[in-house]
Amino acid sequence: KKDLIILGIETSCDETAAAVVKNGREIVSNVIASQIESHKRFGGVVPELASRHHVEQITLVIEEALKKAELSFEDIDAIAVTEGPGLVGALLVGVNAAKAIAFSRNIPLVGVHHIAGHIYANRLVKEMSFPLLSLVVSGGHTELVLMKEHGDFKVIGETRDDAAGEAYDKVARTLHLPYPGGPHIDRLAHEGAATIDLPRAWLEDDSYDFSFSGLKSAVINTLHNAEQKGISIDPKNMAASFQASVIDVLVTKTLKAAKEFKVKQVLLSGGVAANKGLREELEKAFAPIMDIELVIPPLVLCTDNAAMIAAAGSILFEKGKRSQYSLNANPSLDI
Ligand code: KG4
Ligand code: ZN
Repeated sequence: KKDLIILGIETSCDETAAAVVKNGREIVSNVIASQIESHKRFGGVVPELASRHHVEQITLVIEEALKKAELSFEDIDAIAVTEGPGLVGALLVGVNAAKAIAFSRNIPLVGVHHIAGHIYANRLVKEMSFPLLSLVVSGGHTELVLMKEHGDFKVIGETRDDAAGEAYDKVARTLHLPYPGGPHIDRLAHEGAATIDLPRAWLEDDSYDFSFSGLKSAVINTLHNAEQKGISIDPKNMAASFQASVIDVLVTKTLKAAKEFKVKQVLLSGGVAANKGLREELEKAFAPIMDIELVIPPLVLCTDNAAMIAAAGSILFEKGKRSQYSLNANPSLDI
């Protein structure tokens, strides 16, 4: 049987990315142009700036992905592109680049949901076994997705307000740490102790949803009140306490859902998967459970990349999915 060669394209946020993946599991090339340095001085991603960077980078990144793979467009069986969710102006750059190549070279086009991509990042590391549960935690998403087979996604829980990474970034800002704040809080948390009492939003007993905005407000209020009373709070202890609250809720709900749905695998992905505390606590929670395998991909596959889009696109392509040239960016696409 001939190899299936997919070109993936991802531009939903602030990384311009292209990758070539063979047979859905093997990374042939994976090119990522990050814009973080440009957005840093604004303390977050500036959508208009993101679009402009994507326009400048997209052709170069795609060419480099092909060059590194030592392939040309003639070798590509399909182009998989993130169609949503994300920043609309950013998504449009990838979608239009993909459509232009697909049309001019007569290559099939497959639109991919960004979260499906994050989940399929795991398949570049480990073959999936179903049913499985995926925890996707990034700057834009906090979702628990149940899969019974390839291409079948059921969101059993999601954030009702801020995403986990968003909460990290906002709390980091109040602690005067640079953007993106997640890694800085993670580092400080390991130097401090969780001595400050902060809330955990468990929500209803049977809910797998999340909420992080109350926690964020509690951090801000605690710092503010302390300042007014002239008490100083060690940022290390605040970071440790905040991190403990986030991880407690994420790990507890993931463990509960994994048991309830009797899954064979639990997959972690999204930028917050870089968090040392989260990795450690998940490993601790699942280590005693012999029939559930915990999969945590390397960091470069957890944050936004195009290999994950190509991996998800491979499965969708094999299942017969083809997108029309009318494919459009959809900032609030459902999975
Ligand atoms: O997946 P990603 O690169 O982009 C999005 O799709 O959002 O995730 C970025 C998010 C940011 O909010 C960043 O602060 C967070 O991931 N992050 C972390 C860590 N490293 C990155 N959060 C907590 N701990 C970390 N070590
Ligand atoms: Zn993402």
